[in-house]
Amino acid sequence: MSATAEKRKAKKAVDTFKLRFSAKSVNESFARMAVSAFVARLDPTVSELADIKTAVSEAVTNCIVHGYKDARGDAEILLKGSIYADGRVVIEIKDKGLGIEDVETAMLPMYTTDPAGERSGMGFTVMGAFCDGLKVRSAVGKGTTVVLTKKIGFGRL
Ligand SMILES: Nc1ncnc2c1ncn2[C@@H]1O[C@H](COP(=O)(O)OP(=O)(O)OP(=O)(O)O)[C@@H](O)[C@H]1O
Ligand SMILES: [Mg+2]
Repeated sequence: MSATAEKRKAKKAVDTFKLRFSAKSVNESFARMAVSAFVARLDPTVSELADIKTAVSEAVTNCIVHGYKDARGDAEILLKGSIYADGRVVIEIKDKGLGIEDVETAMLPMYTTDPAGERSGMGFTVMGAFCDGLKVRSAVGKGTTVVLTKKIGFGRL
């Protein structure tokens, strides 16, 4: 295969999933388990799996406690996953909630808008540290999308 063909193949997802579930904290473990089952075929190490599960949990928690803070009823979270030929896993977590006014500031360590002081403001920092890529897109009143990238098995090749 030519170098260009190799690159094209690496860019194309070999498998994908999409899930939509209610924004309830009971579904945090559902999201974690769904992602674990999806990436299992890549034979992740215990640590790779723990990293991706933790990052997904943080993102889903944020949708529930921040994005849908004032929501009643049918608030939903959309979870998407893709596996690429080179072993990269990309997970997208999306809400249609309140959105974030200043994403750059929100991503700073220890920044939180939680007035009760129960949160430490470390969710985005944890996601960034446990994954190989973190992107956040948000619009006030429209919602937030977090895109996590994790390389599985790269060190073992
Ligand atoms: N999905 C979201 N919708 C709206 N605002 C969000 C969302 N995710 C994060 N934020 C905003 O970004 C801030 C920082 O998020 P981060 O996860 O880093 O910390 P936290 O949730 O406040 O605390 P912790 O995650 O440590 O419990 C939040 O306090 C909130 O203002
Ligand atoms: Mg958080």
